[in-house]
Amino acid sequence: MPELEKQELLDPKWGEASALHEPRLLANFRARADDVLIATPPKAGTTWMQQILYQLHSGGDDSFDDIDRVVPWLEIPRQDKSWQTILEEFEQRESPRIFKTHNTYEQMPGADTARIILTTRDPRDCCISFYHHFMDLTDEAIALSGINRPESLEQHVENWLEFAAWYRNIKSWWPHREQENILILRYEDLRADLNNGIDEILAFLRWSITEEQRSKIIEHCSFDWMKKNVQRFNQQGFSGKTLFKPHGFVRKGVIGEGKEKLTHDQQTRIIQKAKETLDDDCLKFLAIE
Ligand code: PPS
Repeated sequence: MPELEKQELLDPKWGEASALHEPRLLANFRARADDVLIATPPKAGTTWMQQILYQLHSGGDDSFDDIDRVVPWLEIPRQDKSWQTILEEFEQRESPRIFKTHNTYEQMPGADTARIILTTRDPRDCCISFYHHFMDLTDEAIALSGINRPESLEQHVENWLEFAAWYRNIKSWWPHREQENILILRYEDLRADLNNGIDEILAFLRWSITEEQRSKIIEHCSFDWMKKNVQRFNQQGFSGKTLFKPHGFVRKGVIGEGKEKLTHDQQTRIIQKAKETLDDDCLKFLAIE
C-alpha cells in the first residue's frame, strides 16, 4: 500500500504530520512498562526534565554531547531517516528508555502502562518563553520547520491561544493524575527546591542514587550549568545542526516573566481560557488566581 494511503488510515488522534510531528512514530511505537516518557506542554520544562532524568539514570554523567542522543524526542521526524528506521533504533535501546514528548494522554503510546512524568508551568510564562523560542530560532531552522516568526508579541499571544497546546496538554493529563504510573510536578516547585523534586522522581521511578552522585546531578541540572553547556540542549537532533542562536534554548528560567511582559489584557485572555478549560482543583494546583 502506498505510504500516503497508509498514513490516511491512521487514527486522527495521533495528530497531523508536520516538520515537527510524525504521527506514524506514535501510532507504531511499542512502549515498554519501564519506559519513562516526558509529557510536558511546550516551554514548561521539557528539556530540564530530559536532563534531570538522564542525570538520575546515569548517576551524573557529563560526557554526552547532545541531550537528544540520550533522551530522544519521540514524535519528531529526522531528516535523514524513515520513521521505520527511527522506530527500529528506538527498539534497540536498552531499558529503561527515556523519551521526550509533548503528547496529550490520548496521544501517548503506553499512557496506562509506561511511566509518565510531566511538569506544568504558569501559562503566561510558557507563552513568553514560546515567543522567545520563535525569536531565537536560526533562520535555517525557521526555513526547515516551516514556522513563521510572529510579527509582534500580540500576534504571538493570539497564535498561542489558538494553538492551545498548553491547555490541551494539561486538560488531558489532569484527570489521570492519581494513576500510579503518572507523576505531575510543577516547574515552579522544581525551581524552588530541586532536591525535593529529585526525591519525588526517584520514589516514583524506584530508582536510587548515592549522595556523591546527587551533588553532581544537582549541579548538572542547575540553570547555570545548562546555560553554560547550552550547545548540548540546542535541539541538534532534529536536523543534525544547532537550531537555536548560540545563547538560545536555555534562556532565563525565571518565574513571573509573563506577568511583567504581557499586558493586563493579554494576561486576562490567557487566564480566562484556563478557567474555561480546566477544573477548579487543577487551577488551584497551578496557582492560577
Ligand atoms: S520545549 O521547546 O518545549 O522543549 O521547551 P522546554 O524545555 O519545555 O522549556 C524551555 C524553558 O525551560 C527553561 N529551562 C530551565 N529552567 C530552569 N532550570 C533549568 N535548568 C532549565 N533549563 C531550561 C528554559 O530557559 C526555557 O524557559 P525560559 O522562560 O524561556 O527561559
